[in-house]
Amino acid sequence: MTLPVIAIDGTAASGKGTIAKALARHFHFDHLDTGALYRAVAALVLRDGGDPSSRHDALDACKLFRPGIVPDTELRSAAVGEAASQVAVLPEVRSALREMQVHFALVPPGGKGAVLDGRDIGTVIAPHAPVKIFVTAGVEERARRRWREVHAADPAKTYEAILGELRIRDARDSERAAAPMKAAADAALLDTTDLSIDAAVAAALKLARGKLEA
Ligand code: DC
Repeated sequence: MTLPVIAIDGTAASGKGTIAKALARHFHFDHLDTGALYRAVAALVLRDGGDPSSRHDALDACKLFRPGIVPDTELRSAAVGEAASQVAVLPEVRSALREMQVHFALVPPGGKGAVLDGRDIGTVIAPHAPVKIFVTAGVEERARRRWREVHAADPAKTYEAILGELRIRDARDSERAAAPMKAAADAALLDTTDLSIDAAVAAALKLARGKLEA
C-alpha cells in the first residue's frame, strides 16, 4: 500500500518548517526536516575546521553523518545554515542523503504517512507525492521574520545583513545545477508574505485536505 506523502518546498524563512510540522500533527504523519540533514553535514565540516564548498571535506562529513549526531542548537546557527546551502550544491552530498529521505517518504516510522520539507521534495525525493506545496514570501518580509527571531540572542546582527544573506542563499539554492530549489509543475504555490502563521497553516491545511480527501 502506498502511504500519503506531503511535500513542502520553499525558500528560507518562508514558514515551510512551521507549516510542515503543523500538517504532520494534524494528519498524524511523521515529519522529516530535510534541511536538518544538510545542516548536520555542514556542521560536521565546520567542527573539523573544513571548507563547506570542498567536495573532499563535505564527503568526509557525509561518512560521519548519523541522525542526531549534531545537537539542534548547533544545527540552527546562521553559520551552519549558510554552510548547509554550500554543501547542498554538491551532487555527491545530495546522493549520500537521498536514500534516507526516499525511504522516510516510502516507509514513515509511524506507518500512516509522511511530511517532508526542503527544496527538492516535490521534484526529486517524492515526485509522486499527492500533495505538493511550494511556500515562499517576499525576501524583505522573510528578512524581518529572521531578524525578529535572532535579535534577542544576537543584537549586533542587522536587518540589512540578514537580507543580504537570504538573497545569496536564495540564489545559490535556486541556481545550482543539482536538484535546484523550484516548484514542481504540479505544486500549489503558497505566498505567506501577508499571512500570519495561523493563516498560512490554515491555507496549507485546506490545500492538503483538498488533495488527500479528494
Ligand atoms: O531549510 P533549511 O534552511 O534548514 O536548509 C538549509 C540548506 O540546505 C538550504 O539553504 C539548502 C539545503 N537544502 C537542500 O538543498 N535541499 C533540501 N531538501 C533541504 C535543504
